[in-house]
Amino acid sequence: MRHLLSTEDLSRSNAIRILDTAEEMAAVGEREVKKLPTLRGRTVVNLFFEDSTRTRISFEAAAKRLSADVINFAAKGSSVSKGESLKDTAQTLSAMGADAVVIRHWASGAPHRLAATDWIDAAVINAGDGTHEHPTQALLDAFTMRRHWSKLAGTPSAGADLSGMRVAIAGDVLHSRVARSNVWLLRTLGAEVTLVAPPTLLPIGVEKWPCSVSYDLDQTLAGGVDAMMMLRVQGERMNASFFPTTREYSRRWGFDDNRLRALDSLGFKDTIIMHPGPMNRGLEISSAAADSPRSTVLAQVRNGVSIRMAALYLLLSGDTREPAHHANSTHSTPAENTSALVTKESH
Ligand code: NCD
Repeated sequence: MRHLLSTEDLSRSNAIRILDTAEEMAAVGEREVKKLPTLRGRTVVNLFFEDSTRTRISFEAAAKRLSADVINFAAKGSSVSKGESLKDTAQTLSAMGADAVVIRHWASGAPHRLAATDWIDAAVINAGDGTHEHPTQALLDAFTMRRHWSKLAGTPSAGADLSGMRVAIAGDVLHSRVARSNVWLLRTLGAEVTLVAPPTLLPIGVEKWPCSVSYDLDQTLAGGVDAMMMLRVQGERMNASFFPTTREYSRRWGFDDNRLRALDSLGFKDTIIMHPGPMNRGLEISSAAADSPRSTVLAQVRNGVSIRMAALYLLLSGDTREPAHHANSTHSTPAENTSALVTKESH
């Protein structure tokens, strides 16, 4: 793996390798000293062209836990607002010695462009591009689901996939890069996915995606769902009105208190409720649902740091980088490599 740009082209083995490495990274996060020396001397640049709190902070925490130097670059207040091109920004960062560039951009395809050109010789991680993909979000979601699924089965999560798990993703699919990345990754990991949305919030061509589509949230829930993922209504990307009123939206498509009660009365005691954040409480999810014991919202945030540590680790010290880029010359696999570090560090 040279870059992490999408889940659509992420192989099952690479996906599981990232999830397994993240499990090892999570163990580091539970220690008093949450730091590994692995990426000492390497520079990670967070290049954010769109507002973000949790994703940027999550990447920053991940890079710092691996001892990398972190440079945060927000387009707002930079030369980008003076008209600087992506190419010039990238080349400037390259000249400053960036080893990895974590890019969030409002334009779908911007991270691919960065990775496909010779503007920069750094590993590129897509932290969300337009309405296209958000691979680390889907990986942290899969990590959260896999832990839940393995716990139910009483088996270890390492090496496992999500075979047989029923996942429903509801809401603003049209504008959601989280939904797209999840659909591809969940298919690769063997889960069954149902998208639930009003027809106006489903993209053209959705019938060709590897999932089912429903317009009725109650019906989908009654059929049995192991993980219910609610999507944010992305007001900032809406240039028309996609539903009559917010009240009608929350009544038909939101995970409200009635639906929370319905899970109990239907006897689905193990169904988890997920949301990538930021949440519009009272619109796509009620406060009771977001704060209920079924909610994995905070676990997702926590798991995000482990997933991003795993991604940075595998890209920057993995065996597919040129020798000059190796953090430690070794023939072991990155996962074995991490185990060694984790074990050594925990003494
Ligand atoms: C998501 C995003 O930015 O795509 N949020 C996130 O990464 N924390 C989802 C969203 O904005 O609704």
